[in-house]
Amino acid sequence: MEQQKNSRGRILTGDRSTGRLHLGHYVGTLLNRVKLQREYDTFILIADIQGLSTHWEHPEIMPDVIRQVTLDYLAVGIDPEICNICVQSMIPQIAELSVIYGLFTRMNKLRHNPTLKTEAKQYGYMTGDDLMTGFDRLTYGFFGYPISQAADITFVRANLVPVGGDQVPHIELCRDIVGKFNQLYGKGKEIIPLPSALVGDVPRLKGLDGQSSMGKSLGNAIHLSDDDKTIEKTVMKAITDPQKIRKNDPGRPEVCNVFAYHRVFTPPDEVEQIACECRKGTLGCVADKQRLAQVLKDLVRPLRERRAPWEARPDDVIDILLKGTAIARNEGAQTMALVKEAMSIKYW
Ligand code: TRP
Repeated sequence: MEQQKNSRGRILTGDRSTGRLHLGHYVGTLLNRVKLQREYDTFILIADIQGLSTHWEHPEIMPDVIRQVTLDYLAVGIDPEICNICVQSMIPQIAELSVIYGLFTRMNKLRHNPTLKTEAKQYGYMTGDDLMTGFDRLTYGFFGYPISQAADITFVRANLVPVGGDQVPHIELCRDIVGKFNQLYGKGKEIIPLPSALVGDVPRLKGLDGQSSMGKSLGNAIHLSDDDKTIEKTVMKAITDPQKIRKNDPGRPEVCNVFAYHRVFTPPDEVEQIACECRKGTLGCVADKQRLAQVLKDLVRPLRERRAPWEARPDDVIDILLKGTAIARNEGAQTMALVKEAMSIKYW
């Protein structure tokens, strides 16, 4: 069978549904998705099963989180008329493809994945630096979720995956798996397209507490649905240069986490001025944080405004998910037919 080539490129990307999305998602990947949605066939996957690989004791959070994440998409300008927003657990072909990919993916490929390691530590599944030391805590599902993510990307035969920098090791694994699949079963043909990562061109932001990455539930992130008060509170708690103690001490923007946020969100000419005043000791940290809070409030307000009408129409939001998921399942069925034929396990 001749493989159907998509006339346009195809995007698949997504988010784990463990909480509302935040500014890290916005600059890391959401802006790219909005920008590219008219150029590519776009599939956005709400990865609830991947979310359950850490939250399996609380599956009851999923209906609300899925709704919130969908609202986040609509708020940033994902257009449901042209993008397919779909729900992972409602697409059985992803599970099927994960099992197949697991057949030929070696354990050591997973064991050395830096993102998996970081998360395993965050969730307390291990303390050392080797995933093997966590084997009595780590579940098979969590350890193997990057395989399932390769299935997420390829069940629609995607070419491009807009993601934040932390996801690059997962895309590399996916490319590895696709390469191996095609080599094993393609007889010289590309059955599954080799996808590429597209990483947002902003430096990785830490959480506003300066301690760790922005967490969906660590209280150190600005969420896309936060109100002005919450934004102010989170920013005012932020840590700046620890050596700048009094208002008029000269500061070091290059070590200040609040300044890292200015770099990303504040207009460039103001950023220079802030750096200069901070170094001279004429800008205190409180005033500096108030300035950042203002910038972030101005950024989030229009998102909240775009979210509100959808929030008032929950049935329309569900319809968007049902429609996107049906289209995705149909693509998944076509992919599985290609996969099974290539593997000669399409029997009767
Ligand atoms: N692992 C991603 C995250 O933590 C979410 C995700 C699941 C994803 N499946 C995907 C991202 C497929 C890109 C492509 O945010």
